[in-house]
Amino acid sequence: MFRVLDREIERVRRETGAAPRVLDVGGGSGTWAVPLATAGCAVTVVDTSPNALATLARRAREAGVTDRISPVNGDVDTLADVVPADGADLVLGHGLLEVVDDPGRVLTALASAAAPGGAVSVLTVGRYGAFIGRVASGRLAEARQLLIDPDGRTGPEDRLLRRFDAGLLRELTADTGRLDVEVLQGDGTLETWLPGPGQDAEPAGRDERDELDALASAVPALGEVAPRLHLLARRF
Ligand SMILES: C[S@@+](CC[C@H](N)C(=O)[O-])C[C@H]1O[C@@H](n2cnc3c(N)ncnc32)[C@H](O)[C@@H]1O
Repeated sequence: MFRVLDREIERVRRETGAAPRVLDVGGGSGTWAVPLATAGCAVTVVDTSPNALATLARRAREAGVTDRISPVNGDVDTLADVVPADGADLVLGHGLLEVVDDPGRVLTALASAAAPGGAVSVLTVGRYGAFIGRVASGRLAEARQLLIDPDGRTGPEDRLLRRFDAGLLRELTADTGRLDVEVLQGDGTLETWLPGPGQDAEPAGRDERDELDALASAVPALGEVAPRLHLLARRF
């Protein structure tokens, strides 16, 4: 995932010679915005939560990137009112599509905010990764619900409105009428399978693990059962 975004940032730098303009919708407290600003991007964060934006401001100050982050208290449903159309080289919607009322409309709004030739990056919770996680921890009733509920919810108390599989993400992307799928793969694929601390395992360095994770995430059958799915789509 980081590798995919790094490649995208490099592409913009190469083609425009300028710092990439990033729009992070539902960017919250800056999990992505702060590292991207640290990497030199100019990042606009749109979020409905004033508390999250206050945390973002603090983290930006601590990282010394306040001048590269513009926080906007706004809703993706009225995105066009707060950011220009076609204005961003890279638009992020990470952890967003599973909490909004209409994910198709939101993905179309993200696409409209991207410049032609720019990219939209979507990170969502994966339905089958959640299933495997529930089975592995013995929560079989929830696991069953994840499979039979049309939206992949565990029940009315579920904090998420839906979970995604690769087919649904492809369908929503095609429905925008302005995005082509470029990357659709797992994220954190090894998380479900790695032994916990203290259990016997071949000692592996972080680089080696990240390398294996990237390799596994790009295999469709493994990516589909990852905890998260990552989509990078190109605006045309
Ligand atoms: C799960 S958090 C993800 C935060 C961050 N993008 C990340 O990946 O760590 C979802 C964020 O979306 C924001 N959000 C929810 N509904 C929204 C909406 N309609 N418009 C804009 N932001 C929204 C929430 O306030 C929250 O900060």
